[in-house]
Amino acid sequence: MTTTIGHEATAASRAAGSLPIAALVGAGQCVPLVQGSDVRYTNLDYAASAPALQSVADEVTALLPLYSSVHRGAGYNSQVCTAAYEAARSTVAAFVGARSSDVVIFTRNTTDALNLLATAAPGPVVYLDIEHHANLLPWQARDGRVVVARDTLAGTIAALESELAREPAQLLAVTGASNVTGELLPLPELAELAHRHGARIAVDGAQLVPHRRVDIGALGIDYLAFSGHKLYAPFGAGVLIGRRDWLDAAPPYLAGGGAVRDVTITATSWTSAPARHEAGTPNVIGAIAIAAACRAIQALPDDAIPTHESCLLRQLETGLRRAGADILRLWPDETERIGVVSFTVPGYSAEAVAQYLSAEHGIGVRDGRFCAHPLLARFDANDGAVRASIGLGSCGADIDRLVDAVGRLRVEGPEWTYSASEHGLVPSPDPRDWPDWLAASSSTAPASPCRTD
Ligand code: ALA
Repeated sequence: MTTTIGHEATAASRAAGSLPIAALVGAGQCVPLVQGSDVRYTNLDYAASAPALQSVADEVTALLPLYSSVHRGAGYNSQVCTAAYEAARSTVAAFVGARSSDVVIFTRNTTDALNLLATAAPGPVVYLDIEHHANLLPWQARDGRVVVARDTLAGTIAALESELAREPAQLLAVTGASNVTGELLPLPELAELAHRHGARIAVDGAQLVPHRRVDIGALGIDYLAFSGHKLYAPFGAGVLIGRRDWLDAAPPYLAGGGAVRDVTITATSWTSAPARHEAGTPNVIGAIAIAAACRAIQALPDDAIPTHESCLLRQLETGLRRAGADILRLWPDETERIGVVSFTVPGYSAEAVAQYLSAEHGIGVRDGRFCAHPLLARFDANDGAVRASIGLGSCGADIDRLVDAVGRLRVEGPEWTYSASEHGLVPSPDPRDWPDWLAASSSTAPASPCRTD
């Protein structure tokens, strides 16, 4: 049985997946369609950025009147903010089962956290080609050794093992769950493998942490990175957590105030982690937002999210297949997945499908190469795919709407017309108005803002 965060569960909601399991800011919001009406927005893009939990927004709102400097002020508000910031570290550490000796560093996001780790890991790093760019480019830019994933998960693990055995590495850097296929990697097995070969293991938890309990102590994970904006805390912070020694020995990630013990005209004595890597005024709002999200998710029963998701995932995959979509999967032997599904629709580009879903049905998905170009190339999907991703606010009706819309596209084609623009394919014409506050503040907002692939 699932429980709700912030709104009451009814008897009907107890059917797993039938209702959201959390109150999110913006739930029930309507968006305009090109045909002229408004519909409830169907958000199936949690894997990119998740809306704030209402409880997170409430904690941020409560802090705002007291907002002040962290580690820098004698004023009461500064003391409160400093205490809240440091308490957020402890909350995050407890949420991911950190060892007492681990360090929690607040970063901007997972990309930032893994770039920081790349400055600290002392020796060669092994990683897979299926990674998100956040866990690929920092290693490609230094002494990383990429292992090409095989056609099975078992084969992929064997390939990692033979690379680690072939030549020593200091670190194995893997994703916890693919941001493209949602497939989970077997972290206890990979941690054991890395340690057996004298390496540590770092996990890109950007997709995993919002979907599964992660206990780094129990799993044997040495470093974990994740983002607030995927954990219902979109206030510009992320986390790197893990073993202290490399982080204390690494050069400061940013040179600046807060990271130092003492500075003369010619020399600087740097402090230890976490402050060593948090120069500049810390993002206290982002940090307390992440901590609030951790507390809210921790308060759910252990199986609440997996149960909610597995139900919706089954509905989504079955429905998409029936509608004629082709689903991207890496490994036939990998069964455990989070609620992330990428697919293509025969006869339509990914961009055309995503624009159609938004413009004619009010459904938000992501299309493109998902910041995982090598993986999309493996799938022979260099023009991209469409990704639907499920979160705490998802429900069966969301999945029905997506599946129905994809089915209609296949059978009837789009109702509207679309044309190429400098921003890619766009509805033409596009009569949808921006919200009043945006229209008022920007006379130059592009009809379709620039996209990232
Ligand atoms: N990394 C995010 C994604 O996969 C943005 O969509």
